[in-house]
Amino acid sequence: MAFLIYNTCMLMVLLSSSVTSFAFPGFSFGWGGGGGAGDGSFGGGDGSFGGVLGYSGLFPEFYSFSCPQANDIVMSVLEDVIAKDPRMAASLLRLHFHDCFVQGCDASVLLDDSAMFTSEKNAGPNANSIRGFEVIDEIKSKLEEACPETVSCADILALAARGSTVLSGGPNWELPLGRRDATQANFKESNNNLPPPNSTIQNLITLFRRQGLDEVDLVSLSGAHTIGMARCTSFKQRLYNQDGNNQPDSTLERTYSNGLKEICPKTGGDSNISPLDFSSPARFDNTYFKLIMWGKGLLTSDQVLLNGNVEETMFLVKAFAEDDSLFYDQFARSMVKMGNINPLTGFNGEIRKNCRMVNQL
Ligand code: HEM
Ligand SMILES: *[C@@H]1O[C@H](CO)[C@@H](O)[C@H](O)[C@H]1NC(C)=O
Repeated sequence: MAFLIYNTCMLMVLLSSSVTSFAFPGFSFGWGGGGGAGDGSFGGGDGSFGGVLGYSGLFPEFYSFSCPQANDIVMSVLEDVIAKDPRMAASLLRLHFHDCFVQGCDASVLLDDSAMFTSEKNAGPNANSIRGFEVIDEIKSKLEEACPETVSCADILALAARGSTVLSGGPNWELPLGRRDATQANFKESNNNLPPPNSTIQNLITLFRRQGLDEVDLVSLSGAHTIGMARCTSFKQRLYNQDGNNQPDSTLERTYSNGLKEICPKTGGDSNISPLDFSSPARFDNTYFKLIMWGKGLLTSDQVLLNGNVEETMFLVKAFAEDDSLFYDQFARSMVKMGNINPLTGFNGEIRKNCRMVNQL
C-alpha cells in the first residue's frame, strides 16, 4: 500500500513537471482589429500576421480564415491512403519527428537535393527508411488547389502526424499551427540529432534534452513505436552480437529473439522488416509498453527505457503499460511540445508551393 501511494505521488511529480513545461504558449491574441480577415492575408502566405503583430507562437486557429478546410483535406487523403496501406500512418508520424529534430519543425526533411544543399533524405537515420513523401505531395497539391500558397509543408507534416495517430485508434489533440517552411536542409544535423536504434538510455536523454524534451517526452513519444515496422539492420545487433562477445542482448526475451532470427538471418536480409509492436502493428495502443515489460521491445532504444537503469523512464514504462489513457494524454502533450520545436514564423522561411523544393525567386 505504501508502495502504491509512493508510486502515485511519484507519477504526479513526473507528469506535472511536463505539464508546466507544456510548450503551448499563453494563448493571448494581441491582434485587436489588425488581423486582415477581410483581405485574406490572415494566416496567409505572406506572413503578415505573425510578422506585423510580432506574435511568434503557433496557435490552433491559424488557418481558420485563410484555409478552414485544411484539416479536412489532410484527413480525406489520409483516410484513403491508410485504408490501402495501414503502415503509412506510422511512416507519416515518424516523418514529423524526423522533421522536428533537425533544425526544428520546418519541413526541411521534405527537400530534395539541390545546388544549394544536400537533402536530409540520405542521412543515416533516413536512408532507405523514411517514407510517405508521395502522400505529402498529394496533400499539398490538394491544398494548393483549395488555398494557394497558404498552408505550409511543415504544418502538413504536423497535421498528418496527428491524423495518422487518430486514424490508427490513438488520441486526438488541439494542434498549434502556423509553422513556415525552411529554405535549407541540414544533412549533418540529421546524422547528429536523430537517435540511432542502438542508443543507450543516456544517449536518448541527451538527444531529447537538446530539443527541450524531457524524460517524460522521451518515454511517451517512444510509444509511437506502437505502430509501424523496422528493418533488420535496425535491431540485428541485438540478436547475434549485442556487446561484441557474440551473444544476444540479455534483455531480449528468448522466444521472441528466436522468432526474430528467422526474419533476420545472421548474414543478409538487412532490409527485411518486423513490427515494432508485433501484437498490434497497425493499432495505436499501449501494448508497446506491455511488450517492453515482457522483454519484447524490438529496438535497443525501446528496451533501455525499462532496462537502462534510469528510474524515471523505468517508472514511466510501467505506468504507461498499466494505464492506456495516461499514455494517450501524455503522448498528446508531448506531440504538441515536439511540434513546437523551433518553428519558423513571421517573416522567416516561406510557404513552399512544392514541398520538395524551395520557391523560385
Ligand atoms: C527515442 C528514440 C527513437 C529511436 C532510436 C527511433 C528509431 C527508430 C528506428 C530505427 C525505426 C525503424 C527504421 C527502419 O528500420 O527503417 C523507427 C521507426 C519508427 N519510429 Fe522511431 N525512433 C525513436 C523515436 C521516435 C519518435 C519520437 C517517433 C514519433 C513520435 C517515432 C516514430 C516511429 C514510427 C511510427 C516508426 C515506424 C515507421 C514505419 O513503419 O515506416 N520514433 N524508429
Ligand atoms: C551502434 O551501431 C553502430 C553502427 O552499426 C556501431 O558503429 C556502434 O558501435 C553501435 N553502438 C553501440 C553502443 O553498440
